[in-house]
Amino acid sequence: MTSYNLTGRRALVTGGARGLGAGMAQALAKAGAAVMVGDLLDAEGRATAEALRAAGGKAGFVHMDVTKEADWERAVAATIKDLGGFDILINNAGIEITALVTEVEADSLRKMFDVNVVGTLLGMKHALRAMRPGGAAAKGGAIVNISSVAATIAFPAIAGYSATKSAVDRATRVAATEAGKLGYGVRVNCVYPGLVPTDMGMKLAADVVAAGLFPSPDAAVGAIVGETPLGRLGEVADMADAVVFLCSDAARFITGIGLPVDGGMGM
Ligand SMILES: NC(=O)c1ccc[n+]([C@@H]2O[C@H](COP(=O)([O-])OP(=O)(O)OC[C@H]3O[C@@H](n4cnc5c(N)ncnc54)[C@H](O)[C@@H]3O)[C@@H](O)[C@H]2O)c1
Repeated sequence: MTSYNLTGRRALVTGGARGLGAGMAQALAKAGAAVMVGDLLDAEGRATAEALRAAGGKAGFVHMDVTKEADWERAVAATIKDLGGFDILINNAGIEITALVTEVEADSLRKMFDVNVVGTLLGMKHALRAMRPGGAAAKGGAIVNISSVAATIAFPAIAGYSATKSAVDRATRVAATEAGKLGYGVRVNCVYPGLVPTDMGMKLAADVVAAGLFPSPDAAVGAIVGETPLGRLGEVADMADAVVFLCSDAARFITGIGLPVDGGMGM
Protein backbone atom coordinates (compact mmCIF):
# COMPACT_ATOMS: atom_id res chain seq x y z
CA MET A 1 0.00 0.00 0.00
CA THR A 2 1.43 3.31 -1.05
CA SER A 3 1.70 6.18 1.40
CA TYR A 4 1.20 8.89 -1.23
CA ASN A 5 -2.18 10.57 -1.20
CA LEU A 6 -4.00 11.22 -4.49
CA THR A 7 -7.45 11.78 -3.01
CA GLY A 8 -9.54 13.96 -5.32
CA ARG A 9 -7.35 13.42 -8.40
CA ARG A 10 -8.77 12.01 -11.63
CA ALA A 11 -6.52 9.74 -13.73
CA LEU A 12 -6.60 8.18 -17.20
CA VAL A 13 -4.40 5.09 -17.64
CA THR A 14 -3.86 3.91 -21.22
CA GLY A 15 -3.24 0.21 -21.73
CA GLY A 16 -4.86 -0.13 -18.32
CA ALA A 17 -6.69 -3.39 -19.04
CA ARG A 18 -3.85 -5.69 -18.03
CA GLY A 19 -0.17 -5.90 -17.10
CA LEU A 20 1.64 -2.85 -15.82
CA GLY A 21 -1.25 -0.52 -16.70
CA ALA A 22 -3.74 -2.51 -14.61
CA GLY A 23 -1.29 -2.44 -11.68
CA MET A 24 -0.82 1.31 -12.07
CA ALA A 25 -4.60 1.83 -12.17
CA GLN A 26 -4.91 -0.22 -8.98
CA ALA A 27 -2.12 1.68 -7.19
CA LEU A 28 -3.53 5.08 -8.22
CA ALA A 29 -6.97 4.01 -6.94
CA LYS A 30 -5.47 2.76 -3.66
CA ALA A 31 -3.83 6.16 -3.26
CA GLY A 32 -7.29 7.74 -3.58
CA ALA A 33 -7.53 8.72 -7.26
CA ALA A 34 -10.57 8.06 -9.44
CA VAL A 35 -9.37 6.09 -12.46
CA MET A 36 -10.46 5.77 -16.09
CA VAL A 37 -9.01 2.68 -17.75
CA GLY A 38 -8.41 3.18 -21.50
CA ASP A 39 -7.62 0.22 -23.74
CA LEU A 40 -8.37 -1.66 -26.96
CA LEU A 41 -9.33 -4.73 -24.87
CA ASP A 42 -12.93 -4.11 -23.83
CA ALA A 43 -13.62 -7.19 -21.68
CA GLU A 44 -10.31 -7.01 -19.79
CA GLY A 45 -10.58 -3.23 -19.41
CA ARG A 46 -14.10 -3.42 -18.03
CA ALA A 47 -13.02 -6.18 -15.61
CA THR A 48 -10.10 -4.06 -14.38
CA ALA A 49 -12.40 -1.08 -13.77
CA GLU A 50 -14.95 -3.33 -12.05
CA ALA A 51 -12.23 -4.70 -9.73
CA LEU A 52 -11.29 -1.12 -8.78
CA ARG A 53 -14.93 -0.35 -7.97
CA ALA A 54 -15.27 -3.60 -6.00
CA ALA A 55 -12.30 -2.47 -3.90
CA GLY A 56 -14.14 0.76 -3.09
CA GLY A 57 -12.69 3.07 -5.75
CA LYS A 58 -14.34 5.23 -8.42
CA ALA A 59 -13.45 3.87 -11.85
CA GLY A 60 -14.62 3.58 -15.43
CA PHE A 61 -13.54 2.13 -18.76
CA VAL A 62 -13.25 3.80 -22.15
CA HIS A 63 -12.43 1.95 -25.36
CA MET A 64 -9.52 3.69 -27.04
CA ASP A 65 -6.80 3.21 -29.60
CA VAL A 66 -4.00 5.58 -28.57
CA THR A 67 -2.95 6.04 -32.21
CA LYS A 68 -6.30 7.68 -33.05
CA GLU A 69 -6.82 11.35 -32.35
CA ALA A 70 -10.61 10.99 -32.14
CA ASP A 71 -10.20 8.29 -29.47
CA TRP A 72 -8.11 10.66 -27.35
CA GLU A 73 -10.79 13.33 -27.63
CA ARG A 74 -13.41 10.81 -26.51
CA ALA A 75 -11.28 9.39 -23.68
CA VAL A 76 -10.44 12.80 -22.25
CA ALA A 77 -14.08 13.89 -22.48
CA ALA A 78 -15.23 10.66 -20.78
CA THR A 79 -12.68 11.11 -17.99
CA ILE A 80 -13.81 14.67 -17.31
CA LYS A 81 -17.51 13.80 -17.53
CA ASP A 82 -17.51 10.55 -15.54
CA LEU A 83 -14.80 11.33 -12.99
CA GLY A 84 -15.36 15.10 -12.67
CA GLY A 85 -11.99 16.27 -13.98
CA PHE A 86 -8.63 15.22 -15.37
CA ASP A 87 -5.43 15.62 -13.36
CA ILE A 88 -3.26 12.59 -14.20
CA LEU A 89 -2.38 10.85 -17.47
CA ILE A 90 -0.40 7.61 -17.49
CA ASN A 91 0.76 7.05 -21.08
CA ASN A 92 1.33 3.31 -20.62
CA ALA A 93 -0.09 1.61 -23.75
CA GLY A 94 2.74 0.09 -25.74
CA ILE A 95 3.75 -2.81 -27.97
CA GLU A 96 7.01 -4.64 -28.57
CA ILE A 97 7.87 -6.57 -31.74
CA THR A 98 11.19 -8.38 -31.37
CA ALA A 99 13.67 -8.57 -34.28
CA LEU A 100 17.39 -8.61 -34.84
CA VAL A 101 18.47 -5.56 -36.83
CA THR A 102 19.11 -7.83 -39.83
CA GLU A 103 15.47 -9.00 -39.65
CA VAL A 104 13.52 -5.78 -38.98
CA GLU A 105 10.39 -5.18 -41.05
CA ALA A 106 9.08 -1.76 -41.98
CA ASP A 107 5.48 -2.60 -41.03
CA SER A 108 6.44 -3.78 -37.55
CA LEU A 109 8.62 -0.74 -36.99
CA ARG A 110 5.82 1.58 -38.10
CA LYS A 111 3.34 -0.19 -35.80
CA MET A 112 5.65 0.23 -32.81
CA PHE A 113 6.32 3.89 -33.61
CA ASP A 114 2.59 4.48 -34.09
CA VAL A 115 1.56 3.08 -30.69
CA ASN A 116 4.61 3.91 -28.59
CA VAL A 117 5.60 7.31 -29.99
CA VAL A 118 2.58 8.76 -31.83
CA GLY A 119 0.23 7.41 -29.13
CA THR A 120 2.29 8.93 -26.33
CA LEU A 121 2.61 12.30 -28.07
CA LEU A 122 -1.11 12.47 -28.84
CA GLY A 123 -1.76 11.67 -25.19
CA MET A 124 0.47 14.49 -24.03
CA LYS A 125 -1.17 16.84 -26.53
CA HIS A 126 -4.71 16.16 -25.34
CA ALA A 127 -3.81 16.01 -21.66
CA LEU A 128 -1.89 19.31 -21.75
CA ARG A 129 -4.72 21.00 -23.66
CA ALA A 130 -7.26 19.81 -21.11
CA MET A 131 -5.19 20.39 -17.96
CA ARG A 132 -3.71 23.83 -18.75
CA PRO A 133 -5.42 27.11 -17.79
CA GLY A 134 -8.51 27.57 -19.95
CA GLY A 135 -8.68 23.86 -20.80
CA ALA A 136 -11.64 21.56 -20.23
CA ALA A 137 -10.26 20.45 -16.84
CA ALA A 138 -7.92 23.41 -16.12
CA LYS A 139 -6.50 22.25 -12.79
CA GLY A 140 -2.93 21.44 -13.91
CA GLY A 141 -1.68 17.94 -13.21
CA ALA A 142 0.91 15.28 -13.86
CA ILE A 143 1.75 13.12 -16.87
CA VAL A 144 3.85 9.97 -16.58
CA ASN A 145 5.04 8.31 -19.79
CA ILE A 146 6.15 4.69 -19.68
CA SER A 147 9.51 4.42 -21.41
CA SER A 148 11.73 1.37 -20.71
CA VAL A 149 15.12 0.26 -19.48
CA ALA A 150 15.48 -0.44 -23.23
CA ALA A 151 16.03 3.32 -23.65
CA THR A 152 19.07 3.14 -21.36
CA ILE A 153 20.84 -0.12 -22.32
CA ALA A 154 21.64 -2.04 -25.53
CA PHE A 155 19.75 -5.35 -25.27
CA PRO A 156 19.82 -7.41 -28.48
CA ALA A 157 16.79 -7.92 -30.76
CA ILE A 158 14.91 -4.84 -29.59
CA ALA A 159 16.51 -2.06 -31.65
CA GLY A 160 13.18 -0.78 -33.00
CA TYR A 161 11.44 -0.96 -29.64
CA SER A 162 14.43 0.70 -27.93
CA ALA A 163 14.28 3.51 -30.47
CA THR A 164 10.61 4.13 -29.68
CA LYS A 165 11.29 4.19 -25.95
CA SER A 166 14.25 6.58 -26.43
CA ALA A 167 11.86 8.80 -28.39
CA VAL A 168 9.39 8.69 -25.49
CA ASP A 169 12.20 9.72 -23.15
CA ARG A 170 13.16 12.75 -25.28
CA ALA A 171 9.56 13.79 -25.98
CA THR A 172 8.93 13.72 -22.22
CA ARG A 173 11.65 16.28 -21.64
CA VAL A 174 10.49 18.59 -24.43
CA ALA A 175 6.89 18.42 -23.15
CA ALA A 176 8.08 19.12 -19.59
CA THR A 177 9.99 22.17 -20.81
CA GLU A 178 7.00 23.53 -22.76
CA ALA A 179 4.55 22.82 -19.94
CA GLY A 180 6.79 24.56 -17.41
CA LYS A 181 7.75 27.58 -19.47
CA LEU A 182 4.23 28.14 -20.82
CA GLY A 183 2.68 27.99 -17.34
CA TYR A 184 0.45 24.94 -17.85
CA GLY A 185 0.85 23.75 -14.25
CA VAL A 186 1.56 20.22 -15.51
CA ARG A 187 4.62 18.14 -14.63
CA VAL A 188 5.77 15.59 -17.24
CA ASN A 189 8.03 12.68 -16.36
CA CYS A 190 8.78 9.18 -17.55
CA VAL A 191 9.86 5.90 -15.97
CA TYR A 192 12.16 3.23 -17.34
CA PRO A 193 10.77 -0.11 -16.13
CA GLY A 194 13.07 -3.11 -16.07
CA LEU A 195 11.79 -6.47 -17.33
CA VAL A 196 8.50 -7.48 -15.68
CA PRO A 197 6.94 -10.89 -16.47
CA THR A 198 3.70 -9.53 -17.97
CA ASP A 199 2.35 -10.86 -21.27
CA MET A 200 4.79 -8.54 -23.04
CA GLY A 201 7.74 -9.43 -20.82
CA MET A 202 7.28 -13.20 -21.17
CA LYS A 203 6.78 -12.95 -24.92
CA LEU A 204 10.07 -11.05 -25.18
CA ALA A 205 11.85 -13.82 -23.27
CA ALA A 206 10.45 -16.38 -25.74
CA ASP A 207 11.24 -14.19 -28.76
CA VAL A 208 14.93 -13.79 -27.92
CA VAL A 209 15.18 -17.58 -27.76
CA ALA A 210 13.56 -17.81 -31.21
CA ALA A 211 16.11 -15.23 -32.42
CA GLY A 212 18.87 -17.62 -31.35
CA LEU A 213 20.26 -15.42 -28.59
CA PHE A 214 19.55 -17.69 -25.60
CA PRO A 215 18.96 -21.45 -25.28
CA SER A 216 15.74 -21.04 -23.28
CA PRO A 217 13.43 -18.35 -21.82
CA ASP A 218 14.84 -19.22 -18.37
CA ALA A 219 18.37 -18.53 -19.64
CA ALA A 220 17.23 -15.17 -21.06
CA VAL A 221 15.58 -14.21 -17.77
CA GLY A 222 18.65 -15.47 -15.88
CA ALA A 223 20.92 -13.25 -17.97
CA ILE A 224 18.75 -10.21 -17.25
CA VAL A 225 18.64 -10.98 -13.52
CA GLY A 226 22.42 -11.47 -13.64
CA GLU A 227 22.81 -7.92 -14.98
CA THR A 228 20.52 -6.52 -12.28
CA PRO A 229 22.29 -5.48 -9.06
CA LEU A 230 19.15 -6.07 -6.97
CA GLY A 231 19.08 -9.61 -8.37
CA ARG A 232 15.49 -10.14 -9.48
CA LEU A 233 12.98 -9.22 -12.18
CA GLY A 234 10.73 -6.22 -11.72
CA GLU A 235 7.24 -6.63 -10.30
CA VAL A 236 4.14 -4.77 -11.43
CA ALA A 237 3.92 -3.09 -8.01
CA ASP A 238 7.49 -1.75 -8.32
CA MET A 239 6.44 0.19 -11.43
CA ALA A 240 3.04 1.20 -10.06
CA ASP A 241 4.47 2.67 -6.85
CA ALA A 242 7.02 4.74 -8.80
CA VAL A 243 4.20 6.12 -10.97
CA VAL A 244 2.12 7.01 -7.91
CA PHE A 245 5.11 8.84 -6.44
CA LEU A 246 5.65 10.88 -9.63
CA CYS A 247 1.95 11.82 -9.69
CA SER A 248 1.90 12.85 -6.04
CA ASP A 249 2.70 16.15 -4.36
CA ALA A 250 5.85 14.51 -3.00
CA ALA A 251 7.19 14.97 -6.55
CA ARG A 252 5.94 18.57 -6.85
CA PHE A 253 9.37 19.94 -7.93
CA ILE A 254 10.19 17.04 -10.27
CA THR A 255 9.59 17.43 -13.99
CA GLY A 256 11.35 16.29 -17.14
CA ILE A 257 13.04 13.27 -15.56
CA GLY A 258 13.35 9.64 -16.55
CA LEU A 259 13.23 7.48 -13.43
CA PRO A 260 14.84 4.05 -13.72
CA VAL A 261 12.79 1.38 -11.90
CA ASP A 262 15.00 -1.50 -12.92
CA GLY A 263 16.89 -2.77 -9.88
CA GLY A 264 19.99 -0.97 -11.17
CA MET A 265 20.18 -2.77 -14.52
CA GLY A 266 20.48 0.42 -16.56
CA MET A 267 22.97 2.34 -14.44
N1 LIG B 1 6.78 -5.75 -19.24
C1 LIG B 1 7.97 -5.24 -19.31
O1 LIG B 1 8.96 -5.91 -19.07
C2 LIG B 1 8.16 -3.78 -19.68
C3 LIG B 1 9.42 -3.23 -19.47
C4 LIG B 1 9.64 -1.90 -19.81
C5 LIG B 1 8.60 -1.14 -20.32
N2 LIG B 1 7.38 -1.71 -20.52
C6 LIG B 1 6.32 -0.86 -21.06
O2 LIG B 1 5.23 -0.83 -20.14
C7 LIG B 1 4.00 -0.65 -20.84
C8 LIG B 1 3.04 -1.77 -20.44
O3 LIG B 1 3.63 -3.02 -20.77
P1 LIG B 1 3.02 -4.42 -20.30
O4 LIG B 1 4.16 -5.28 -20.01
O5 LIG B 1 1.95 -4.20 -19.29
O6 LIG B 1 2.38 -4.89 -21.71
P2 LIG B 1 1.06 -5.74 -22.03
O7 LIG B 1 1.18 -6.16 -23.43
O8 LIG B 1 0.87 -6.78 -20.97
O9 LIG B 1 -0.08 -4.65 -21.88
C9 LIG B 1 -0.16 -3.56 -22.77
C10 LIG B 1 -1.57 -3.02 -22.78
O10 LIG B 1 -1.60 -1.94 -23.74
C11 LIG B 1 -2.75 -2.11 -24.56
N3 LIG B 1 -2.55 -1.49 -25.87
C12 LIG B 1 -1.68 -1.89 -26.85
N4 LIG B 1 -1.83 -1.13 -27.94
C13 LIG B 1 -2.80 -0.22 -27.65
C14 LIG B 1 -3.41 0.85 -28.38
N5 LIG B 1 -3.05 1.12 -29.65
N6 LIG B 1 -4.36 1.59 -27.76
C15 LIG B 1 -4.74 1.31 -26.50
N7 LIG B 1 -4.22 0.32 -25.77
C16 LIG B 1 -3.26 -0.44 -26.34
C17 LIG B 1 -2.94 -3.62 -24.66
O11 LIG B 1 -4.24 -3.96 -25.08
C18 LIG B 1 -2.61 -4.05 -23.23
O12 LIG B 1 -3.73 -4.00 -22.40
C19 LIG B 1 4.36 -0.64 -22.32
O13 LIG B 1 4.47 0.69 -22.78
C20 LIG B 1 5.70 -1.34 -22.35
O14 LIG B 1 6.45 -0.97 -23.48
C21 LIG B 1 7.13 -3.01 -20.20
